[in-house]
Order: sequence, then C-alpha cells, then structure tokens
Amino acid sequence: MKRTGKNTGKKILVCDLKREHGTIRGEVMRSVKRVLDSGWYILGKELEAFENEFAEYIGSSNAVGVASGTEGLQLALMALAVGRGDEVITAVNTAIPTAMAIVSAGATPKFVDIDEDTFNLDIRELERAITGKTKAIVPVHLYGNPCDIGGVMKIARKHGLAVIEDACQAHGASHNSRKVGSFGDLGAFSFYPTKNLGCYGDGGMVVTNNGKLAAKLRLLRNYGQATRYSCDIEGINSRLDEIQAAILRGKLRRLDRFNKRRSAIARLYGECLKDIGALELPSYDRNSKHVFHLYVIRCEKRDMLRDFLLKNGIETQIHYPVPLHLQGAFKGLGYRAGDFPRAEALSRKILTLPVFPALTDGEVMRICNCVRRFYNGRGRRLS
Ligand SMILES: Cc1ncc(COP(=O)(O)O)c(C=O)c1O
Repeated sequence: MKRTGKNTGKKILVCDLKREHGTIRGEVMRSVKRVLDSGWYILGKELEAFENEFAEYIGSSNAVGVASGTEGLQLALMALAVGRGDEVITAVNTAIPTAMAIVSAGATPKFVDIDEDTFNLDIRELERAITGKTKAIVPVHLYGNPCDIGGVMKIARKHGLAVIEDACQAHGASHNSRKVGSFGDLGAFSFYPTKNLGCYGDGGMVVTNNGKLAAKLRLLRNYGQATRYSCDIEGINSRLDEIQAAILRGKLRRLDRFNKRRSAIARLYGECLKDIGALELPSYDRNSKHVFHLYVIRCEKRDMLRDFLLKNGIETQIHYPVPLHLQGAFKGLGYRAGDFPRAEALSRKILTLPVFPALTDGEVMRICNCVRRFYNGRGRRLS
C-alpha cells in the first residue's frame, strides 16, 4: 500500500469509497465483465469458488454466501432452530442489525452491558443475563476488535448455549492467531460496501465447522429448496450473487494488505494523539489482532470537537449514538434509560475518526493536528 505524506486539503470522509474504488477499478471491471459474459448470475461457479476461498481464509470448513450480514445472522439462528419463545443475548451497543436479525428469526433479544475498555460485551454480565429461555449468544467483534471470545465460549458450553459470532465488522481479526468467526457454532460476516471486505451492494457470508448446519443454511438461503421446485423446509431468498462474489474474490486477496494499512493508520493516530489528556484511545488485548474497521476514540466535549473537525473539512461519525435498549423499535422489550450505564455513558463520548486503506499519512496528520488545535483552545472559540 502506498504511503504518502501529501496533504490534499480536500474534505476527508470517514470512509471514502470512491477513492477506494479508484485503487482497484481495473480488476473490479474485469470481474464484472467475466460474470456478465458468462450468462450465469445466481448460485454459480464464482460463488462456489469464493465460498471455498473465504472458508480457507477464516479457517472454517464451510462458508455459505448470503444476501447480507443481517440475513446471515438470521439464517444462522434459523439453522439452529432458535425462534419464537427463545432469548438470544447480545451486546447493547452493537449495530441495529444484530438485534433486528434476532427479531427476524422470531426470537427475543436480551441485551447486556459492555466492558468499558474494549467496548465489547462484558462476559460477567453475560452470565447474569442467562435464563431458562436463553438459547444462543451473539457476541459482536465491535469495530474489528475481537471480543473475549474464549470467555464467551466457556460460558456457552457450561450452559449448553449456541454461539453465533457477529463478525460483520471483523474480517481478518484474530484471537490467539485464530480468525474470529471460526470460534462459535457459526459466524456471520457482512460485505456492506464500507466493511474491511466490502462489495458493491449488499452481501454476507456465514461460516461454520458443522457440515450439517452448512447444508441446512444452503437450503434456507434458497427458499428451502434441495433441488429445483422441491422443498422440505421453509426458507427465504438470501443469496450472494455472482457479480458480488467475483468482485469479492479479488478483494479477498488484498484483505490482509488493506488490514495492515488500517493498523498502520491506527498506530499513527496513537502516536500523534496519545499525549492529549482529553482523549482516550482504543485499547485491545495483546493476544488479539484488531483490524480497525473503525477507529473510535473517547473524548471530552465530543460534539464541539465534531463540529470543529467538520468546519475544517474532516468528517467523523458516532458508532453508535443510541444504545439498542433506547431505540423505539425495541421499546416492547421493557428496558429503560439507566439499565446499561456503561454503554449509555460511552455513547455520549465516542467519536469515529476516518480510517480506510487509501487514507494517507498526511491526512491522518491533518486530522490529528486539527484535534490538537481544538483542545489547545482555538476549537472552543470557533464552535
Ligand atoms: C455489527 C454488525 N452486525 C450486523 C451488520 C449487518 O450487516 P449488513 O449491513 O450486511 O446486513 C452490520 C453491518 O452494518 C454490523 O456492523
């Protein structure tokens, strides 16, 4: 990956997909042409090859391409026959789709608070949340940072619960050199365009070492059909199409290099921001590899800093501003403000700074200098 010190002065986005596309345009166009010319667009050779390549990359025996990460999670729950009357535990600060997938499978999400240092699910809270109705746990590797998956697996095995890893933000992340997604009974990935491995539309993948679950997933994603016009179980339409699979095959070959560049950007942020007392930088387990899908800091005067950065041409985001128990869609679950104090407090302080492989060192320096100027006084006057 090219590293330059050039500062273009242009607006910096949190994730600049147009610039990313510019770096791989030729290869993407060749992949699309290959599929268009083949005359075969759904469930064909490209998907089969990509499923094999992705399974090998993750270190799982099976991978099943689906239409999105959300449906990957939903189908994983359906494959385990988790549904009506069952509770599924997940982190309260995850992306909305984690919980929507649980609801779509017919089950009830049960939220737990998070560890203040890693922003991932607190496993002490996890054990306390288990009831007689709990059937599964969906731990999330938030921002690309592996959660305490060893701890989650221990608790799950002790209580006879299934584990579906939400690895939608964590392609290539690992714990003790083993890739996330391969620890649980199943693992779900998203290929939403901004992800570390993203396609040009929607897409997803479910991995599993269990051949029976993989076979069931293949039916479930294709109307429940085992052969054409014959079905024994109810399924949905959730397939990763040939064009997306062909593009993703090329991008998978670059994933480690892109992840390395994300880590280098994170290191540079760390070096440049570490002495600013008003900030707390991401922390992670030394036995884990964080792939920095998002670089999320905690900061004082978050909203003022955000305005200041924007006025200086730097976009930031908040992942996520409202924890799930306070979202209108989940009102019926009966949670109230104050139920998850750590996630609630963090949601008021977190800020996502730009990270994408084509971001230059010069741009990272520009962002850091702007943050420094804000805390040195100029920002407060400006906002
Ligand atoms: C943590 C998490 N889970 C699930 C999803 C759902 O993935 P998709 O957008 O592909 O449905 C996403 C992506 O937005 C995510 O970030």
